[in-house]
Amino acid sequence: MEKAITKKIETKNLILRKAKLNDAAELFLNVGRDNKVSKYTVWNKYDDVKVAENLIEKWVREYKDYNKFRWVVILKETNTLIGTITSVNCDKTNNTVEIGYAYGSLWWNKGYATEALRAVINYLFEETPVETIYAQFIPTNIGSGKVMEKVGMKHEGTLRNRLIDKNTNKYANLESYSIIREDYK
Ligand SMILES: CC(C)(COP(=O)(O)OP(=O)(O)OC[C@H]1O[C@@H](n2cnc3c(N)ncnc32)[C@H](O)[C@@H]1OP(=O)(O)O)[C@@H](O)C(=O)NCCC(=O)NCCS
Repeated sequence: MEKAITKKIETKNLILRKAKLNDAAELFLNVGRDNKVSKYTVWNKYDDVKVAENLIEKWVREYKDYNKFRWVVILKETNTLIGTITSVNCDKTNNTVEIGYAYGSLWWNKGYATEALRAVINYLFEETPVETIYAQFIPTNIGSGKVMEKVGMKHEGTLRNRLIDKNTNKYANLESYSIIREDYK
């Protein structure tokens, strides 16, 4: 994926842009320390702003790496950092990208995750050689599945007992959704 650049994207309500070191406090306050968010993420609740600082330092280093996309999501109306949308996996050989996202619970159910994912899908198909964009969620995370459906991703399968759900400490399935270039056209 030679053109995998985290380019600034603007939508009706949002700006998706590269993270900057001084975003750490907002990332911590609005997303990282929010219990409701980390219920469904592979990462755990941030105990300290230092976690956000370390993460953003890593992202800033990775902006030189053309296999990674890492956007922070800014709500235009208030100029607030409300979430992140990133590539969890990028396969350069086969042009597949797995997307992950997380938004502070104060901003849920306003359509923002859908708006951002749609914009990222458009960007990836228009400006990179990506063939398949996919995302996965644990079945209890109903909102995340809705977001994938609303942007036109299709259910491609159930990955059985693919992770230990940290809320129940039991194995749980992952639902996998994808959109391929042909669907996008
Ligand atoms: C999942 C998440 C990204 C959704 O973000 P969002 O900005 O609220 O998403 P949207 O508003 O664009 O869409 C959410 C949809 O799910 C629906 N929804 C949310 N919770 C629901 C529930 N429990 N049951 C049914 N529908 C639900 C909303 O009504 C909305 O659908 P609608 O537009 O048809 O009304 C957000 O909740 C989040 O960040 N969660 C924590 C991190 C996370 O789970 N990340 C994804 C890991 S796979």
